[in-house]
Amino acid sequence: LDNGVARMPPMGWLAWERFRCVTDCKTFPDDCISEKLFKDMADRMAADGWRDVGYQYINIDDCWMARERDDQGRLYADPERFPSGIQGLANYIHSKGLKLGIYEDYGSLTCGGYPGSQGHEATDAQTFAEWGVDMLKFDGCYSNDSSKAIGYPLMSAALNKTGRPIVYSCSWPAYEGGLPPKVNYTELGEICNLWRNYGDIQDSWDSIIDIIEWWAVNQDVLVSAAGPGRWNDPDMLIVGDYSLSIGQCQAQFGMWAILAAPLFMSNDLRHLEKEKMAILQNQGIIAVSQDKLGVQGKRYVKKNGIQAWSRPLSEGHFAVAILSTRTDGTPTEVTFTLNELNIKQATSYALYDLFEMKTVGKFLNKDLIVTYVNPNGIKMFRASPVSMEIIEEFD
Ligand code: DGJ
Repeated sequence: LDNGVARMPPMGWLAWERFRCVTDCKTFPDDCISEKLFKDMADRMAADGWRDVGYQYINIDDCWMARERDDQGRLYADPERFPSGIQGLANYIHSKGLKLGIYEDYGSLTCGGYPGSQGHEATDAQTFAEWGVDMLKFDGCYSNDSSKAIGYPLMSAALNKTGRPIVYSCSWPAYEGGLPPKVNYTELGEICNLWRNYGDIQDSWDSIIDIIEWWAVNQDVLVSAAGPGRWNDPDMLIVGDYSLSIGQCQAQFGMWAILAAPLFMSNDLRHLEKEKMAILQNQGIIAVSQDKLGVQGKRYVKKNGIQAWSRPLSEGHFAVAILSTRTDGTPTEVTFTLNELNIKQATSYALYDLFEMKTVGKFLNKDLIVTYVNPNGIKMFRASPVSMEIIEEFD
């Protein structure tokens, strides 16, 4: 969607995966969906360096509303859990140099059973704009295919009419199976800034691998759909939650950068191990994610539990990911050439290891490159075109 926002995949924090629909603030005062949770996250984002490396949005998901609309038909937040209202929360978040995202659903109800937007599109768009909301995630429970086809464009127009730049995230394709002919990605790119294509991520490595596989199998459709202002969304980052090892955290973060995915963490920023924080704040990986060319990466090799991906970057650079789903204990020796990964515009490239943060060497695009990848782990490189002073031919 060409509305001036989300020219790069947006980065921020989103409540759902980690905090779900916990509304019992008496029993769970720190974890319930309340203004305290979002203010706590905004505080951490500003104080712990997140904002400085590019994370910008603090996004509310389902279960924030009162159970009914007010007597003028407007939405309002649950007054006990959000005593300052959404406008008060927006002011707080803006005062930290951050932006606020909110959630609604094009149906009679949200997935969690709160009031839906169907029939209230203009009012809701206006309400969000007046509150100072900067992003809307628009879900698709409790509506059918034909009403979704009307509702998603309608909300896009209603948001545009408010005059406030609001990033528009659509769950529509995920409810339609994510593929043509049911999903028209050309049309979608004119209506939404990003869209969920596939099922919800869960707190597990299996879930991540399942998502990556779907992205790879359907890459021809997905890669051409993405670009500045219009992104495929493989769902939230679960780095820092309960299930992933350090290597698996690197793998999710690295692969989401290769996929030009929105980077929304859903974790508890108040309790995050240092190593996981360092992964999420890795500036070399973030630069891949935010590269201004805005081209999504592709998988070129899948063999024996090893996958090799590359993503074209600006100025002739590339990002490379070697991902392992193997479980056989020791690191696997992987040999690849840049040619195999469609990196052949220049004859030679310098390779920089983005997690180890060190230069690996210079290689001709046909050279065999040997690397070692841990079980359920990843190696990530940036390949930068260089001239080779001495080119030795061994063959
Ligand atoms: C389904 C969405 O896909 C999730 O990300 C989340 O927003 C839930 N609905 C909320 O009910």
